[in-house]
Amino acid sequence: MKVDALSFATRLLHPRHVVIVTCSGREGKVNAITLSWSMPTSFNPPMAVISVAPQRYSHSLIEETGEFVINIPTVELIKQAFQIGSKSGRDLDKFKVTGLTPGKAKVVKPPIIEECVAHLECRVAKQVETGDHTLFIGEVVAAYADEEVFKNKLFNPKAAKPLFHYGLDWFTTVIDEVLKP
Ligand SMILES: Cc1cc2nc3c(=O)[nH]c(=O)nc-3n(C[C@H](O)[C@H](O)[C@H](O)COP(=O)(O)O)c2cc1C
Repeated sequence: MKVDALSFATRLLHPRHVVIVTCSGREGKVNAITLSWSMPTSFNPPMAVISVAPQRYSHSLIEETGEFVINIPTVELIKQAFQIGSKSGRDLDKFKVTGLTPGKAKVVKPPIIEECVAHLECRVAKQVETGDHTLFIGEVVAAYADEEVFKNKLFNPKAAKPLFHYGLDWFTTVIDEVLKP
């Protein structure tokens, strides 16, 4: 027996890796948004795509400047990730609210989040409307990670402890074991 899931079909593709995207407007206003819809989409040039609903404040900032940073939190940032994904930056400063630290990015204007373990600085190459979200397809112009968590060009799950999202306020992380086929 299978239950019908058409109206929640996207949930069948969860849990998904949570990222916190930082962005900034022309006037320098800085914001952050939590996303579970993101993925890599090209090795060469390196590209990554994020899916953002048009009503998000971050959507207008990314459209304005064409730049964003994908920051990778560990499970320790679960509270901050949820806060950033529950309030709009139109009304508040998410760095102040969460206590997270903005840091200077290497190439783009939006800041990185210092407490995150990896950062992909992106410039929008293409924008595609889907049903009720926009895909911002970004060329990755700089990428770096904390030494302890990214050794031999792979995340060490014991150190990286990535945050995954099932939907609503349900999260998980991966077991700290590498399984090989
Ligand atoms: C775990 C989690 C994942 C989310 N994933 C997405 C997503 O992939 N795309 C999206 O547009 N909004 C997503 N959201 C909702 C936004 O983060 C939320 O609406 C946020 O308050 C928007 O902030 P802004 O108005 O400052 O841009 C997610 C929220 C949470 C808590």
